[in-house]
Amino acid sequence: RNPESQNILDAHQWLVKLYHHLLRNSKDGKQAYEYLADRGFTDEIIEKYQLGYSPNSKDFVATFLEKKGFHPQTMVKAGLLSVNSEGEYSDRFRGRIIFPLRNHLGKTVAFAGRALGDQQPKYLNSPETDLFHKGQLLYNFDLARSSIRKQNSVVLFEGYADVISSFQAGVTNAVGTMGTSISTNQAKLLKRYADKVIICYDGDQAGIDAAVKAAKLVKNVGCQSNVARLPEGQDPDDFIRKNGGERFKREILDTSDTYVTFIMSYLKRNYNLQLEGDRISYIEEVLKEVAQLDRAVEREHYLHEISQEFQMSMDTLKEEVQQIRSHLG
Ligand code: GTP
Ligand code: MN
Ligand code: MN
Ligand code: MN
Ligand code: MN
Repeated sequence: RNPESQNILDAHQWLVKLYHHLLRNSKDGKQAYEYLADRGFTDEIIEKYQLGYSPNSKDFVATFLEKKGFHPQTMVKAGLLSVNSEGEYSDRFRGRIIFPLRNHLGKTVAFAGRALGDQQPKYLNSPETDLFHKGQLLYNFDLARSSIRKQNSVVLFEGYADVISSFQAGVTNAVGTMGTSISTNQAKLLKRYADKVIICYDGDQAGIDAAVKAAKLVKNVGCQSNVARLPEGQDPDDFIRKNGGERFKREILDTSDTYVTFIMSYLKRNYNLQLEGDRISYIEEVLKEVAQLDRAVEREHYLHEISQEFQMSMDTLKEEVQQIRSHLG
């Protein structure tokens, strides 16, 4: 590892401690601490995730880093400081709650800063650096890894708070993509540890659309791909705060849809099944998905469902699926 990367790692390590200390012990950090407490973050969780607070000061962190001997220009490259046209350095995350982002080895390589109120952006992430690639890092993977392997399954969330809440509720095989998409790299990484992925994104249009993409990606790397459904307008963190972890496990995770069932309900939203043309297009779309299933029993299961719902003969459906399969690579 080159000296600059080591330098950037060291700076992050110092700042994790500083931000965390300020959250717990500074006057300025008190409102941030109260915000977290209000949201249900326990002290134990604040410790475990080393959550922190960056004071609302232009140069507090800049001065701290300089005193520790870090070169400001390197810190700008690391995404910890900003520099203006006058050449003044200032804290990038000032006034925000800090979520350290750890890599698979447990080293903090970036931060996410959440606004305390409605300021935009809600979350400010570190920029891409040699140590931090957003499409590679899975939030919480270092803590969840052994549980993922043991359970042979992983629950995938879009938000930091969702991961932390579910972890707090005893769902320890929880990881997060930062935002709403998962990359092929991340999916391949998960496949090395588990055969099943439960996608648990927010119950809004963005979350559902992202879940479609994620579900396809996860399926294509060879994992069983399930999708959990949240009530409209709620995310996993909201649900757990409102109803508790047991209900989350029982009503959301344990009842997640299989890939095909999820795709069927998703397609149904886009087609008007009262219309003959739409009905046929819908059936054809679903058959394309069914055709891709490896197991004959699984294919038969869904074909039965379609056959009953649309009064079509199994022979016709099977013939169509065989047709599609003969063209698959
Ligand atoms: P809370 O409001 O704190 O519960 O956050 P959330 O996780 O529910 O946020 P949301 O569902 O809006 O977004 C999901 C994830 O997308 C967040 O955890 C962030 O990783 C990311 N995200 C959300 N807003 C922003 C933003 O303004 N900028 C960036 N870069 N990422 C964001
Ligand atoms: Mn502490
Ligand atoms: Mn969302
Ligand atoms: Mn959310
Ligand atoms: Mn949320």
